[in-house]
Amino acid sequence: MNHWKTIVEPFRIHSVEPVRMTTVDERDAALRTAGNNLFNLHAADVLIDLLTDSGTGAMSRDQWAALQHGDESYAGSPSWFVFLQAVQELFPFRHVIPTHQGRAAEKILFSVIGGPGKVIPNNTHFDTTRANVEATGAQAVDLVIPEGRDPSALHPFKGNMDIGALDAFLAAHAGSVPVVFVTITNNSGGGQPVSLANLHEVRAVCDRHGVPLFLDGCRFAENAWFIKLREPGQADRSIPDIVREIASLADGMTMSAKKDGLANIGGWLAMNDDGLAEACRNLLILTEGFPTYGGLAGRDLEAIAQGLREVVAEDYLRYRIRSTAYLGEALHAAGVPLVRPFGGHAVYLDARALLPHIPPLQYPGQALAVALYREGGIRGCEIGTVMFGLRPDGTETPGPMDLVRLAIPRRTYTQSHMDYVIEVVTYVAARAADLRGYRISQAPPALRHFTARFESL
Ligand code: F0G
Repeated sequence: MNHWKTIVEPFRIHSVEPVRMTTVDERDAALRTAGNNLFNLHAADVLIDLLTDSGTGAMSRDQWAALQHGDESYAGSPSWFVFLQAVQELFPFRHVIPTHQGRAAEKILFSVIGGPGKVIPNNTHFDTTRANVEATGAQAVDLVIPEGRDPSALHPFKGNMDIGALDAFLAAHAGSVPVVFVTITNNSGGGQPVSLANLHEVRAVCDRHGVPLFLDGCRFAENAWFIKLREPGQADRSIPDIVREIASLADGMTMSAKKDGLANIGGWLAMNDDGLAEACRNLLILTEGFPTYGGLAGRDLEAIAQGLREVVAEDYLRYRIRSTAYLGEALHAAGVPLVRPFGGHAVYLDARALLPHIPPLQYPGQALAVALYREGGIRGCEIGTVMFGLRPDGTETPGPMDLVRLAIPRRTYTQSHMDYVIEVVTYVAARAADLRGYRISQAPPALRHFTARFESL
């Protein structure tokens, strides 16, 4: 460490992708065509795309080189062994099952261990995790600490599991809980980390009740960096060492390599239990592929293996977490309400607080997300009443919060891109009183946020 304050991106640019400036008139036209749904835009009409950090990062020189090592043998490819070794270096589970992305791992696992009458607790289930649990007839339950549900509560590990609640839950549902999950970092709760101490406590509770513990490890490296920064006694440890301790507490994991695999596609399912692994591999063969490639090409396996070596580098993680905080701190200083502390991969704007004149059922998050695109070509993602407000019986209630997530792709945008985002968000926030709500003019019966059309009120 040194005393300089400027965040230096720990890379220089080797290959560039053009991004296109558009005018407000062009963006108005794009919004009309898209029915004011940012998922319907052509990405070429977006200047800074903060829709997701999933699969949108830049690969390194060494990852592009690794693609050339990709061996496409159907069975037993050398690229499989490179991948396996890189995964087990950090997560030494006995069985590793490659999948095309995280939700494929979820689908396979819950198909085997879920089903009617089962209940699966998590700090907070990500939406695909919840959907895959529920698709089997099982029930998904969120047991994050109370601070994790309050956008403005300051807590260093807001992703922690509520240990008392978990203990009581496992006692009340003895025999019906096939697994306890912990999501690191807790994406749906704002990208908030889970402490090592909390993971040890979860493990102890699981042991007491004889229930296995699995990780949703999508952002494991960011979580480990927060542990190093914030948890007493962890400052001098290496990131791989912290990750291996996290892994040692679990019986298995699901993973999307589109996040902390630094890859554009990929994932895996891992576990120690031989019988469970056999059942999962049988399903894998049905839908993903042979167990030495899963849903991936050999070249993807190589890119992920190299990504896993790069994502635990401290220069990278320092830059990554500082640059997210840079965006959050500047917006906070400008008086924009947001979820604090800032998570690892995203900054979440609190649209309900910024737009008190727009009631939740007129979608303040949608209004803010559309305004950021209209004014500055920035695409964020509503996480609020549009996403969570529709109940299975077709009625609507306000979502728990009305947020706009600005997710930051890895190694993709520079500090001047972020300065521009700060300028646009601050500009829109200053004119918040002029924004109007929306009504939904057309929507599918489920997962409406992806395809609904909106009309301005
Ligand atoms: N678990 C978590 C915590 C996630 O954030 C995601 C994806 C998944 C599982 C599923 O992984 O996309 O590879 O199938 N999150 C993305 C996002 C989509 O935008 O937050 P996947």
